[in-house]
Amino acid sequence: MKLDRRLFLKSASLAAVSLSHPSLAASLNPISKPQQFDPSVIGLTVPEINIVRVAVIGVGDRGTHYINQLLNIDGVSITAICDTDSTALDKVMEQFSQRDLKAPDRFTGNEQTYLDLLTKNDIDIVIICTPWEWHAPMAIDAMESGKHVLVEAPMALSVEECWQIVNTSEKTQKNCMMMESINYGRDALMVLNMVRKGVLGELLHAEASYNLKLHKHMQQLTPKMGNLDRYKNVKLNGSYYPTHGLGPVSLYMDIHRGDRFDYITAMTSPSSPSSNQDNREQQHPLKGLDVNINTSLIKTVKGRTIIINNTVNHGSASSVQTAPHSRIQGTKGSYISSPNRIVLSSNTNEQYLNTFNWEQKYQHPLWQQLDRQTKHHCLSHNMDFLMLWRVVYCLRNGEPLDQNVYDGAALSVVSILSEISISNRSHSVNFPDFTRGQWQT
Ligand SMILES: NC(=O)c1ccc[n+]([C@@H]2O[C@H](COP(=O)([O-])OP(=O)(O)OC[C@H]3O[C@@H](n4cnc5c(N)ncnc54)[C@H](O)[C@@H]3O)[C@@H](O)[C@H]2O)c1
Repeated sequence: MKLDRRLFLKSASLAAVSLSHPSLAASLNPISKPQQFDPSVIGLTVPEINIVRVAVIGVGDRGTHYINQLLNIDGVSITAICDTDSTALDKVMEQFSQRDLKAPDRFTGNEQTYLDLLTKNDIDIVIICTPWEWHAPMAIDAMESGKHVLVEAPMALSVEECWQIVNTSEKTQKNCMMMESINYGRDALMVLNMVRKGVLGELLHAEASYNLKLHKHMQQLTPKMGNLDRYKNVKLNGSYYPTHGLGPVSLYMDIHRGDRFDYITAMTSPSSPSSNQDNREQQHPLKGLDVNINTSLIKTVKGRTIIINNTVNHGSASSVQTAPHSRIQGTKGSYISSPNRIVLSSNTNEQYLNTFNWEQKYQHPLWQQLDRQTKHHCLSHNMDFLMLWRVVYCLRNGEPLDQNVYDGAALSVVSILSEISISNRSHSVNFPDFTRGQWQT
């Protein structure tokens, strides 16, 4: 029987927790901080790369989307692509021939063929857009082969995998950034700018939620596996999709830049068959999937609180209906998304954030710069484009990336820790400090 790698990792993670720490108190501290042998990669800079040579593993929906955007960014050369599905590679190749560009080397065969791609020495950075169980192994192998990594969320599926990725990044001194593109949204960065300028005062509380639109995918007769990953995780008795809501909130709260997640407690509602199962395909892989509503609460070391609410279209009319949903509350005001509104103690009338005045005053410098420099590409201006454009800029200019390996690990581990909390009557579970104390400095 083929071993389900994901289930194996999950049960190995939980077994490791309960075997090595028999008492309940200990099981709620799945930390066991590994010894650090190598320097931290906070603020890691690498020598300037004139032309950033990119390889993409997994060219389904997401990988193809990134390739299309990279082809519009100066200073990028796509040198290799890999997928187990050769027809996916064929489609991507058309992009290159239509534009009269040199075709990248292509790798296909089996699930391990990406290792052949990693032997090439004309690759600076590998983008990983495969199903979840491959994220951590591919990221680790890519760094070991001397490449920087951008990996889709979540970066890892167990506490052990998170530590392995952190240790590998430190050992190889290679970047490993989880691509939390929501952080680069126009509004998310505008709010970050307002927070930095003190408009909301001292931050106290946030909400970082996400609603999965299951029924949209139930209506697809041949759903893509990458999308299904998110729904497979719904079976997890924990926070099943935390990173998109939590990414921007972590920026606002300076997580790993003066604060960090301290502990989490979580609860789950009763589960029920997902609504809107009006798909025409009886054999649909999501048919009969039970879904619940998960609520997790994180306390930061500075005492701030964050609620994460994950739902799967239960027909709720909550503000979480639009995903992701965030709220940030400070001593001088608060911002709430979907639709974006702001209330300040100096002016208690609720105002929509995207009005001319707010945009004029607080548009983030990155968006101003992008709008100025790439007007002819304005159609592709979105958060994914800005994220890639910014990564390329940082690598070409020897600057540190905006998100580091510790950020990706802390966001990814939320699902795992919330599951441990729920299986222990919602007792709190400590976050590993992946930075090993460096968050303070
Ligand atoms: N950040 C976001 O907003 C967002 C949105 C959509 C998807 N995603 C994530 O992106 C990833 C890909 O999603 P997608 O929608 O593109 O899925 P997809 O199914 O369209 O593409 C995944 C591709 O990976 C290939 N693949 C699988 N195993 C492989 C292996 N071992 N080696 C090489 N190729 C392999 C598949 O053949 C497929 O072409 C998933 O992790 C998904 O959760 C993120």
